Amino acid sequence: MIPTQQLERNKVDQSYQFNPFDAEFKANPYPYYDYLRTHDPIHWGMLGGWVITRYADAKAILKDPRVDEAPMPDSFRKKSQYLAKKERDLEALILASQHWLFFLNPPDHTRMRGLVAKAFKGQSLQKIASEIQAIANQLLLPLKAERTLDIVTDFANFIPIKVMMKLMGLPKQDEHFVRGWVRDIFSIFDPLNSLHKCEEMNQISLEFRDYLQHQINQKRKQPQPDLITALLEVEDGGEKLTDAEIISSCMMLGAAGEGTTASIIGNSILALLNHRDQLELLKQQPHLINKAVEELLRYDSPTQLVLRTAREPLEIAGKIINQGDFIILCLGSANRDPQQFVDPDQLDLLRSDNQHIAFATGIHFCLGAALARVEVPIAINTLVQQLPNLQLAINRVEYHDNVVTRFLKSLPVTFDVA
Ligand code: HEM
Repeated sequence: MIPTQQLERNKVDQSYQFNPFDAEFKANPYPYYDYLRTHDPIHWGMLGGWVITRYADAKAILKDPRVDEAPMPDSFRKKSQYLAKKERDLEALILASQHWLFFLNPPDHTRMRGLVAKAFKGQSLQKIASEIQAIANQLLLPLKAERTLDIVTDFANFIPIKVMMKLMGLPKQDEHFVRGWVRDIFSIFDPLNSLHKCEEMNQISLEFRDYLQHQINQKRKQPQPDLITALLEVEDGGEKLTDAEIISSCMMLGAAGEGTTASIIGNSILALLNHRDQLELLKQQPHLINKAVEELLRYDSPTQLVLRTAREPLEIAGKIINQGDFIILCLGSANRDPQQFVDPDQLDLLRSDNQHIAFATGIHFCLGAALARVEVPIAINTLVQQLPNLQLAINRVEYHDNVVTRFLKSLPVTFDVA
């Protein structure tokens, strides 16, 4: 078993400052969250923003119309102005990200969300479910004879991209480079991107944009039963999406749905292997899977934090958040708040009243939650049911260097041949 609760709660230093880059925090953030929730729930952090760790506060802020999304494309614009002196720019990255729902506020958000959600809802999740099961089976089949596999690098990393390629109607043979682009563009969410990283993402945006424009042109000529065609055709109150908006939305859907879904598959198997009674329960009662996935999302949430800025001054628990202040909402902490969840550090697949906010809440509630709720249960049940005597093959795990997502680099396991 990997001791994920190594650090005792009372061992957190009394002068603790929120630092998501700290190696110990990365390995196990939960005792630190617990300290902040108890001692400084509205914490002014070293990153120059307010760190919110309690469930009630996070939920209230997510629903507060006085709070805006963090304007990420603006930060790219500022960097681009600086680069202009060196005859370089981030124009492609700015164009690629400027229609992402994550960075929009009403009324722009309302219009874009209405159109993208309408196109997305038109896709049949029932049909997708049988395709996801086929993808999971195909991935596992050649690995089953090996008695060992890496849950993350052999399995979880492939499921979401394969599903996304099918959903969007992109050619199967392009999967390798589309996955590379989507992974790299995911760093758009990282508020502390270096100039070098932004230039890399700018280059990827250029290539990805040309590729998607070509796909759009094809589908305009020959419509297909897929999401890109649906985005081309969707209309809401006389409004339609431009090609630039479709390109930006496809990049957004790829980036938003790939890393998050891959990470919850890895995090879930690790959590189950660390709680063998719960693994056994799921093995014996596979029909519990949907409830189990909600608990796994709560227990080790893939999106650990989301960012906002205050459009107006706010008062929360006696502290004043000034206009323009940066707010870091720790969803991973909110989902472990004892004021909201009984025995929150316990993985309990039968937990009732599980109102977790792993998909956030309010107007930015995850657009892909319904898809994730089909994809993740199939992926986890396939692994749990098809791999007998699943065991961890390592005693220390490592996470990707991303402050927003809790994403294992790898998770080697062993199992018996059925
Ligand atoms: C387990 C997997 C997933 C998790 C944990 C997750 C989590 C989240 C969270 C926390 C947000 C809110 C962000 C914010 O408030 O700033 C969000 C928004 C969003 N998610 Fe997901 N997500 C997952 C899967 C997906 C998938 C599969 C897709 C699409 C294919 C997707 C597309 C989106 C989009 C487009 C938004 C922006 C919605 C808006 O701003 O209106 N997500 N997601």
